[in-house]
Amino acid sequence: MADLRAFENTLIYGCDYNPEQWPESVWQEDMALMKRAGVNLVSIAIFGWARLEPEEGVYEFAWLDRIMDMLHQHGIKANLATATASSPAWFALKYPESLPVDKNGVRLGVGSRQQYSPASPIYREKASQLVRQLALRYKNHPALAMWHINNEYGCHIFESFSEETVCAFRNWLHHKYATLDALNEAWGTAFWSQTYYEWAEIQAPAAMPTFYNPSQYLDWRRFSSDMLQECMQMEVDLLREITPEVPVTTNYIGINKHLDQWKMSEIEDVVSIDIYPDPASPSAAIECAAQGDVARSLKQNQPWILMEQAPNQVQWRTLNHTKRPGQMRLWSYQLLARGARGIMYFQWRQSKAGAEKYHSGMVPHDGTDSRTWREIETLGNELKRLPDFCHDPVKAEVAIVLDWNSWWGLEQGSHPHADLNLMELVAQFYAPLHQQNITVQFVRPSDDLSPYRLVCIPNLYLVKEEDARNIETYVQNGGRVVMSYFSGIVNEHDHVYLGGYPAPFRKMLGLKVEEWLALSKEEKRPLENGWSAEQWIDVIRLEGAQAVTTHAADYYAGLPAITTHAFGAGRADYLGVKLPVEQMGLYLKTVLDELQIQPALQVPAGIEVVSRETTVFVLNHHPQTMTIDLPEHKKDLLSGKDVAGQVELPAYGVLILQ
Ligand code: GLA
Repeated sequence: MADLRAFENTLIYGCDYNPEQWPESVWQEDMALMKRAGVNLVSIAIFGWARLEPEEGVYEFAWLDRIMDMLHQHGIKANLATATASSPAWFALKYPESLPVDKNGVRLGVGSRQQYSPASPIYREKASQLVRQLALRYKNHPALAMWHINNEYGCHIFESFSEETVCAFRNWLHHKYATLDALNEAWGTAFWSQTYYEWAEIQAPAAMPTFYNPSQYLDWRRFSSDMLQECMQMEVDLLREITPEVPVTTNYIGINKHLDQWKMSEIEDVVSIDIYPDPASPSAAIECAAQGDVARSLKQNQPWILMEQAPNQVQWRTLNHTKRPGQMRLWSYQLLARGARGIMYFQWRQSKAGAEKYHSGMVPHDGTDSRTWREIETLGNELKRLPDFCHDPVKAEVAIVLDWNSWWGLEQGSHPHADLNLMELVAQFYAPLHQQNITVQFVRPSDDLSPYRLVCIPNLYLVKEEDARNIETYVQNGGRVVMSYFSGIVNEHDHVYLGGYPAPFRKMLGLKVEEWLALSKEEKRPLENGWSAEQWIDVIRLEGAQAVTTHAADYYAGLPAITTHAFGAGRADYLGVKLPVEQMGLYLKTVLDELQIQPALQVPAGIEVVSRETTVFVLNHHPQTMTIDLPEHKKDLLSGKDVAGQVELPAYGVLILQ
């Protein structure tokens, strides 16, 4: 597999670079400033299609040649985009069938970006011609270090209801089920008179009188994710044919519900991700960390790249908060700690026109006499002096199961509770673990779970029989699982497993869920140990498990709320309620203590600790100086000094201890 050889012993520092927005007179200054800031990789031509192909089949590469040459002369590498993320206006006018159509049948217009249906044959054809041209032209260019495929697949358009897409859906289904009988069975179409007798009768789940068929919707999500993946695969195949040595990546927009990132990551060489925490959000640091952990997990611990973060504020929220002095640096180190091998920004020079002119750039409107630039320049130069950590593995003893099929299944209408949101439920586990400085690896339910001492399973609503067995075997062989409610309910077609909930896990959990109660946002129900239940209550009958605590009121008083079950050589815990997050923290703490899983350092709350094999990152998320106690002498790689005992960490300060 192609790798990032050009950056063997160097951390990557770079940005999206859109020189086409500026006169060429500015480019020389760009090069000089990039050198000053330590920029060594830039993503270029991401939105370059209209400039590269001003009319159909007529390619203009001269401007890109000049910028590629200039980059090379200045020792800066190119993460060259395939420019397929925004098709030109002429293309949409000539091939209107390629435009995306929304749920209500409205064909979307041009003048924005991502204006194509991923399944559109003509979009794919024209995109592949452009990619071929680019690959042939730059295959031997010394600046070319990596291919940046498209941009944030599914960021705006993750599904389209165009006629062509519906046809593609039918083909996809035909390929999957072979016969209509099999499809009717899988979709449970005996319900509500939905039986199909011809493939042509099948529609996409667009606007409908009421609930759509949930099995159909699941397949629609899979199909829509696959259409984006096919676009990517098409580009990857072309690039591998022409430039087999050059690694390929695509930048994810955080953790994107609409794209099965496990599957997608299998076809790229390097994972890259865009992370935009809201500086005003109290959970910004947790979200940042979680996205970094997902990025690292997607290719099983291979180094990944933070492809975009904002140098300062963004422009796309309703209120766009400024990053406080030091916060951008802190969050950059937070992601380096979690395995990133580079920090990149959107974007180099703040645009003067267009929808992103109020989005910060590394070079702001007022140039280098600005706080943003000073922080950018300082960080870039600091990173240059650091060793490359990428071969120092991040240590994680705890895993959280994340599965896109189950996510799609869980968040549907016509369920006992409409507010089950997977990311919130994942945060129930992730946030307290993060607060206790326990690093998490994300895993699929089918993965080998044996490397982990504890596997957390938030609301795995949909599970394949063989994946349930995989989890059971892990416990049987000595693993520890903590699973939360409404898990193991349906199979891959969204058909309920009969024989008592959660049928595939009953043996492992030693219980049966007889019924469940959905609670409103305000409702809290008391538990025997003084804790409380929110959102959801399972009425549980024990079949070998023990109650950790029971309900204290109502007709299910005395029945278990949380259980634990010794199974084989391991143990499986079950949360039949949602706990307030602080109580979830207390509960997880008891499990961690039992398993003797501990953070690398004991520090005050709000200080993050991430340990790698040979280094420990300490990050102060407080806007004030904090003191930590270091039991042993360590070298801080940032200051070069030996530290021990009572050590002061300035506001948003960082230590990298070795
Ligand atoms: C995304 C896109 C960029 C830009 C930024 C703005 O990450 O990939 O092109 O729009 O958002 O935050």
